[in-house]
Order: sequence, then C-alpha cells, then structure tokens
Amino acid sequence: MPASVETTTVDPSHNQSAPANAHTPARAEEGAGEPAGGEALRPHAEQAFAAELAALAAQDDRTRPARWKMSPWAVATYLLGGTLPDGTIITPKYVGPRRIIEVAVTTLATDRALLLLGVPGTAKTWVSEHLAAAVSGDSTLLVQGTAGTPEEAIRYGWNYARLLAHGPSRDALVPSPVMRAMAEGMTARVEELTRIPADVQDTLITILSEKTLPIPELGQEVQAVRGFNLIATANDRDRGVNDLSSALRRRFNTVVLPLPESADAEVDIVSRRVDQIGRSLDLPTTPDGIDEIRRVVTVFRELRDGVTTDGRTKLKSPSGTLSTAEAISVVTNGLALAAHFGDGVLRPSDVAAGILGAVVRDSAADRVIWQEYLEAVVRERDGWTDFYRACREVSA
Ligand SMILES: Nc1ncnc2c1ncn2[C@@H]1O[C@H](COP(=O)(O)OP(=O)(O)OP(=O)(O)O)[C@@H](O)[C@H]1O
Ligand SMILES: [Mg+2]
Repeated sequence: MPASVETTTVDPSHNQSAPANAHTPARAEEGAGEPAGGEALRPHAEQAFAAELAALAAQDDRTRPARWKMSPWAVATYLLGGTLPDGTIITPKYVGPRRIIEVAVTTLATDRALLLLGVPGTAKTWVSEHLAAAVSGDSTLLVQGTAGTPEEAIRYGWNYARLLAHGPSRDALVPSPVMRAMAEGMTARVEELTRIPADVQDTLITILSEKTLPIPELGQEVQAVRGFNLIATANDRDRGVNDLSSALRRRFNTVVLPLPESADAEVDIVSRRVDQIGRSLDLPTTPDGIDEIRRVVTVFRELRDGVTTDGRTKLKSPSGTLSTAEAISVVTNGLALAAHFGDGVLRPSDVAAGILGAVVRDSAADRVIWQEYLEAVVRERDGWTDFYRACREVSA
C-alpha cells in the first residue's frame, strides 16, 4: 500500500443499491415497549428482545470492550437467561452448556473471529444472530454464503450508474455488510461459510489478519475500527464441499454447538420456540401440547441415536437429520392444524404427517426403517395407541 493511501469512512446511507445481501439495518429503539418492526413476520433479535437488551445494558456496570453495547458477562446472560438485580427476567435464547457461550463471547472480544460449527439445526444461525444483537445492537450486517457468493458480497460493489457518470469514487462504491461492520466497529455475520467458493472465502484472510480492506480502484483502504469482529457459521455435513483453507481456519476460534444432551433439554428447547413462533402466528397456546412435544422429541432422538430410550432395541437411522429445528417445525405445523381444523388441542394426528415427512425423505430405505420402528417400537408402547393409529393412517 503506498504511503498516500487515505483511510476512509463508509457512508452507511449508501445501501439502496448494495450488492447481494446488504440491506438497511432496522435498529431497535432501545427501551421502546412496542418492538420496532411490529408488523414484521419475523422481527430481528434486537427488535424482538429490545426490552431485555435495554434492561441488561442499563444494569450492566462491568467493563465493556470498545463499542460493545454491554459487557461480555451481560451478553452471556442475554443468551443463557437469568434474573437481573431489579427483577427483570431474561429469557434463555440458547439452551446448552454455559461454557460454550462464554467461550464464544470471549472470542468476540479478542482479535480472533468466531466460527460456529455443528450439525444442522444446532442453533448456529440463532446463536450468531443473538450474539450480534447483544454485542453490537444490530444483527443485520449479514452475508449469506452460497456456491454463488461473489467477492463483492464480502468486499464492496459499485453503483454502475454513478460509476459510469462520475468514474470511480467513494460515492459510487457500495459497501458490503462486512465493510460497514469494519468501518463502524460492529459485528459482521457470514452464514454457511463452507458453501462459499474457496477463492472467495480467502478474501476474508486479509480482513481478519490485517483488519483492513483495500480499495485499489481508489488507492484507499477501509481500516477496521475497534469493536469490529466477525461470526461465521458452517455445517458439519457440508464439510468437504468447500473446506476451509487452513490459512483461514487459523483466523477463527472454532466453537462446536452440540445436539441437546438430554430429551428434557430438547423438549424444553422445542416448547420454548414453538411457543414464541406460535405467538407470532397468532396460534392459540395449547396447555396439553407438552405430551405431543415429548413424543415428537422421543421419536426423533430414538431414530437419530439408533437405539430406543430404554437402550433395549437397536434401530436403523434414516437419512434425514431429524434435528431439533425439524422437531420445532413439526410441532408448529401440528399446532396450526389443531387450531384451524381441530379443536385447538394438539393431538397425535396433528403431528403424525409431519413426523413421517421428516423421517421418510426420498429413499425407499427410509420408508422401511419407519415401518420397522412403527411396528416394533411404537405399537408396543404404553399410551401410544392413538399415535400408532395416526401414523398407520398417514403411512398407508
Ligand atoms: N440448543 C438450543 N437452544 C435453543 N434453541 C435451539 C437449540 N438447538 C436448536 N434450537 C432452535 O432450532 C432452530 C434452528 O436453529 P438454526 O437455524 O440456528 O440451526 P443451524 O444450526 O443454523 O442449522 P443449519 O445448519 O441447518 O443452518 C432455532 O429456532 C433455534 O431456536
Ligand atoms: Mg444456519
């Protein structure tokens, strides 16, 4: 870089024609009773939990890293839940080992980036969104990784009308979410990092090691200011598609998110999320739903683990992942069925079709595995007769 290089700032108002994935952040009004994005189908974390975030920031007297909205301790409390001195209840967002979240938050306060790794549906995206919301108050500086993600989505693009009219200038440059995060000292997010082609991934190496993003066309650079860091997520099952280069991997601290350790933990996760999603869809809350949730979780866990809960019967595992995320959607669909076409109470017939769809993907082998499970396990189990009948009906 020549000595004449100037360090510039990025004008965040240039989003209108931003490259793929960049969009205007809708920042939460801190402390506002009604969350911003009131009519949004799915408000961002910082909007949905604006009151909790404001309460945490207000009562947090621990040291905050530069430009953080709260201390690392408060960020961990936001994710794991707790009760504040004034009695405000912080709901748990992540249910799992406390240490994992502590390591993740601490990483964000260092000069290393954070890589969340795990099998599908282990809350990688969910944790990344909530971390960004708590640390920077904005979870929208996001690049979605795909096989077609271009370098511009990570670096910057151009507004071609301005470029043609006035030549290359700061005005014609369209910053990527990562560039904006660097300039403003915020948290950037990259989803599904390993799906991005290897040469495009490598764009991140300079950003993460030099903390700078050169703009050769203008002889300038954007230097990351304090507070900038990056959270990437990657799926275990995609490994090998576009493996991370070891050079890039060294820039990350890797945190592996595990599957829920016990059935109780998984039931807890599913019922919490179903409750939240149900409220956003105006579905009635069903008091008796918990039995059906427990059943869905039991079926998923047994098939996933290849053995029944009592350890007596070995099972074959189907090709699908049967993740917690899928259990959540099976139950949510069941609740919608019960609300719109039943009496509002979640019953075996409301979840049977959803379970079948999750277990039997496209292969004939899955169907055989399901039938065997149905006849050998479900049929024999006390209190499962209704569920057995409902499954027989949809499997026919
Ligand atoms: N341990 C957990 N604690 C809280 N919520 C969880 C947990 N595990 C899964 N979930 C829920 O599962 C849903 C799916 O999670 P998410 O989309 O973040 O998974 P993912 O790991 O990114 O999956 P993928 O690899 O398919 O992208 C979220 O709604 C999240 O709330
Ligand atoms: Mg994800």
